[in-house]
Amino acid sequence: MSSWPEDVGILALEIVFPSQYVDQTELEQFDGVSAGKYTIGLGQQKMGFCSDREDINSLCLTVVQKLLERHNIKPSEIGRLEVGTETIIDKSKSVKTVLMQLFEPYGVTDIEGIDTTNACYGGTAALFNSIAWVESSAWNGRFALAVAGDIAVYAKGAARPTGGVGAIAMLVGPNAPLIFDRGIRATYVRHTYDFYKPDLTSEYPVVDGKLSIQCYLNALDQCYQQYCKNVSKKLNSEVDISSFDAVIFHSPYGKLVQKSLARLVLNDYVRTTKEQRTQKFSELIKFNNIKLEDSYFDRDVEKAFLNYSKEIFDKKTSPSLLIASQVGNMYTPSLYGGLVSLLINKKVSELAGKKIAMFSYGSGLAASFFSITVTHNCGPSSPLQKLVSNLSYIKPLLEQRQKIEPQKFESTLELRQKTCHSAPYEPNGSIENFFPGTYYLTKIDEQHRRFYDRIPVLTNGHV
Ligand code: ACO
Repeated sequence: MSSWPEDVGILALEIVFPSQYVDQTELEQFDGVSAGKYTIGLGQQKMGFCSDREDINSLCLTVVQKLLERHNIKPSEIGRLEVGTETIIDKSKSVKTVLMQLFEPYGVTDIEGIDTTNACYGGTAALFNSIAWVESSAWNGRFALAVAGDIAVYAKGAARPTGGVGAIAMLVGPNAPLIFDRGIRATYVRHTYDFYKPDLTSEYPVVDGKLSIQCYLNALDQCYQQYCKNVSKKLNSEVDISSFDAVIFHSPYGKLVQKSLARLVLNDYVRTTKEQRTQKFSELIKFNNIKLEDSYFDRDVEKAFLNYSKEIFDKKTSPSLLIASQVGNMYTPSLYGGLVSLLINKKVSELAGKKIAMFSYGSGLAASFFSITVTHNCGPSSPLQKLVSNLSYIKPLLEQRQKIEPQKFESTLELRQKTCHSAPYEPNGSIENFFPGTYYLTKIDEQHRRFYDRIPVLTNGHV
């Protein structure tokens, strides 16, 4: 009999995003592109960004402290903490060690884990490691904390509207309301140059947009098919899109997510025998000879499967896109921002007992398809109810953000690009509109050491 702890998964989540944003309609006008390109073509509404007052350390300090305070977790209750990020400000010292400032004053230094990097996949790696630790012989009964955080900024041009900023902390342990399904997840890792950051003096990636889309969709095909095989082998049951109540994707921009949901239906189509297709997919029968690898940019196929899957998208995926469309691609936290969005867009009774599919993608590339089972217990004092109620501040907080005009957004990014590795450096961005509880950079000394302060917190432990 297994001695593993039961139902390991996410017990609590916290998210932080910037208190300022640029409006994508205004950005379209400012950039001189056709109206609708960013808002309809990419599916993005607003993009969070930060001044020189915030960096990856401050974002992660804010989200971890917020989780400890709002969930009454004592520092000594955390036994593992790791960070997934691609926002690298030091080639040696991990963000995790910076976060130890929150634990050392309580005499807590025995916390395993460090940072993990591979583009937008690092948060998933941190989460998988956290779950594995709880399920391992090294587990000492304490919680694990997986943190995903990034500042996603691109050079001026086509990729810039697909930026964003955020951090998410996930408390991991047994008897969780969001349970990670065991032994069936699927992973796909390859060597590609679709998006990478070879210039260590810049925050900007080198990106081949079209290739990155092809790599993303190909990784989705591979992971989904492997997941289906794993379920068939381990559980002796068949998977198709109807197996999931919600399907959440890493979201570089909303339109790609909608195409990805359609892509899963295309995968189901390809996996179905020609005889079954006539019954199940009668209106798509003209694509009988379609091959997945030939269809990444096939407009006819894309359009037909987008139309066919529209209702499925509206029901299973659209509720997960709130934060992605309002804040942008947060890189590592993007997928988990999708999970948070789903949780705040549904009633607890609608979530209980449901199956959620998750697709994580990080360029370069590493990807996984996995699933979460939501616990059935949704009573008034259940862990699920508690987890979801704790997220009720998010929608009002999105509304409290300050809109900044595109010109100021652009000059802020220029300043960041010029100064992100400067030392000594005194940041000059205003702290006036920061949400309560936000950590911010006060100075970088001549030895590149960074110092932070915090906006006082409100009595309820947050914003
Ligand atoms: N109204 C409505 N739709 C419009 C309009 C308009 N006025 N103008 C353009 N569009 C549509 C286009 O038809 C296109 O739709 P399609 O995707 O169905 O073809 C869409 O808007 C985007 O327009 P493009 O001309 O294709 O955009 P462009 O090539 O300039 O840039 C890209 C898009 C490649 C995604 C770019 O933003 C980028 O490089 N982003 C970063 C890379 C990225 O996010 N990759 C995804 C996976 S990797 C990762 O997560 C980082």
